[in-house]
Amino acid sequence: MTKMMRAVEITSPGGPDVLQLTERPIPEPGHGQVVLKVAYAGVNRPDALQRAGAYDPPPGASDLPGLEASGEVVAIGAGVSGLALGDKVCALLPGGGYAEYVATPAAHCLPVPDGMDMKQAACLPETFFTVWSNVFTRGGLKAGERFLVHGGSSGIGTTAIQLANAFGARVFATAGSDEKCAACVALGAEKAINYKTDDFVAALRAEGGADLILDMVGGDYIPRNVKALAEDGRLVQIAFLQGPVAELNFALMMVKRLTLTGSTLRPQSDLAKARIAQDLHEAVWPLLEAGKVAPVMDSAFDLAEAAAAHARMESSDHIGKIVLKVSG
Ligand SMILES: NC(=O)c1ccc[n+]([C@@H]2O[C@H](COP(=O)([O-])OP(=O)(O)OC[C@H]3O[C@@H](n4cnc5c(N)ncnc54)[C@H](OP(=O)(O)O)[C@@H]3O)[C@@H](O)[C@H]2O)c1
Repeated sequence: MTKMMRAVEITSPGGPDVLQLTERPIPEPGHGQVVLKVAYAGVNRPDALQRAGAYDPPPGASDLPGLEASGEVVAIGAGVSGLALGDKVCALLPGGGYAEYVATPAAHCLPVPDGMDMKQAACLPETFFTVWSNVFTRGGLKAGERFLVHGGSSGIGTTAIQLANAFGARVFATAGSDEKCAACVALGAEKAINYKTDDFVAALRAEGGADLILDMVGGDYIPRNVKALAEDGRLVQIAFLQGPVAELNFALMMVKRLTLTGSTLRPQSDLAKARIAQDLHEAVWPLLEAGKVAPVMDSAFDLAEAAAAHARMESSDHIGKIVLKVSG
């Protein structure tokens, strides 16, 4: 008889209330995969986009939301080496984290860093994979450069501030309240700009311009980012909270020799994600284990309260990460 588990599904595209508890079969590990008994699942903005019908899972992925989790390895598929039953890991998921069990490629699992609990570990994969691959690999951030991250108090922003600071960049952030700006400074930003009262373009130009900008806002931020960049600056676009369409004078790109780029993590190949996991293990896990970088925790909800967790995220009142307690 098929063994069943509790999960949260998206009953139809819509607001937080379409997230409902259900029962689903416990997944089996495919080739190269493990199954985790989920302790905590991280909640991310892309989950809300998926819930609203604006971000479909890639082919073959679970239709259940949830892009990251911490948990214990309870089943191992063929072709997996380096993981054993009972190992405590955190993992980037193709989907399906809002459930008691989830299958994911073994190569996308990382050990729970020494000294970190399962709740914190669940918050690591989505933002650390995204920030590492966009800020350091794609954006090429170097020590001493001026780095601007928008949405500095978000899950992505709090991770980006800490990592850029740890690798010696000068960090600037924008956020929507003085309280959020204070949180950005406490995390290592040299200056945080309340975008509701101050102009980030003027603030960055006063410093000589940004060498790298990580942007999730888009819309009219796109031409303003281009103005805020220094010569040879790079703009890395990871989302469009204000929309993907803008009018842009490309002459500035030519004159300042700018690079405009971007990426999204979920549709990338398993191999590409495995390479990011390897890089993180080598370059970032020692910082987590030394306590030099840590996830910023906002709040935890029970799995059955996933709708309330989404409502909190969409209120934008939160600072840092929101998690679902599954069996932790
Ligand atoms: N490309 C990728 O691979 C990838 C991966 C993961 C996440 N993302 C994207 O990265 C972003 C952050 O994700 P997250 O999980 O960290 O989300 P999050 O914690 O909910 O953060 C979103 C932040 O954006 C700010 N914001 C919301 N609406 C805004 C608007 N209209 N204009 C300006 N700022 C706005 C809010 O801060 P304020 O109150 O300060 O405005 C909020 O803290 C999301 O857009 C997500 O889709 C992309």
